[in-house]
Amino acid sequence: MHPQIEALRAAVSRLPQGLAEHVEGTVAEARRLARRYGIDEEQVELAAWGHDLARAFSPQELLAAARRFSLEVGPAEEQAPILLHGAVAAEMLRRDYGIDDPQVLAAARFHTVGRAGMSLLEKIIFVADKISPDKVRANPALARVRDLADRDLDAAIAEYFRHRFWGVPAWVRGDALGLGG
Ligand SMILES: [Fe+2]
Ligand SMILES: [Fe+2]
Repeated sequence: MHPQIEALRAAVSRLPQGLAEHVEGTVAEARRLARRYGIDEEQVELAAWGHDLARAFSPQELLAAARRFSLEVGPAEEQAPILLHGAVAAEMLRRDYGIDDPQVLAAARFHTVGRAGMSLLEKIIFVADKISPDKVRANPALARVRDLADRDLDAAIAEYFRHRFWGVPAWVRGDALGLGG
């Protein structure tokens, strides 16, 4: 197995149990989608194993890591440091695991709320993170997102946002999802 994947699996096994289970479920969904959409499985695995490395950090730890890594911290992140956990994880992947593939790093960085013009890899990690078995168990409405993901990732993403209380973000509307591939 890829040595970086091996190292990430070991790191995930040391995370709190519920989180480790979520990451394993995310990896399984991401691998399935990778095969479905014919994308490199190694990139998908690296991003999936690494995406939540900082998810168990306290708000203070996230802010401290963001400052240490010179990440931009705006008012939204000051108020809700959890928004930083993808960006912090991406920096950890780069610094601690020697991963320099910008596509893998972007997939980890933007996995939480997505962004306009996501790559196929980013979309797969975004969706896999939402349809891991632990999350579908907690919120059965997500089963529809999982079913849609097999046919149309953009439709799955739009369906996901329809279920979020904050509504559909501007970049999901119209053709924004497809911009830039
Ligand atoms: Fe996350
Ligand atoms: Fe996650």
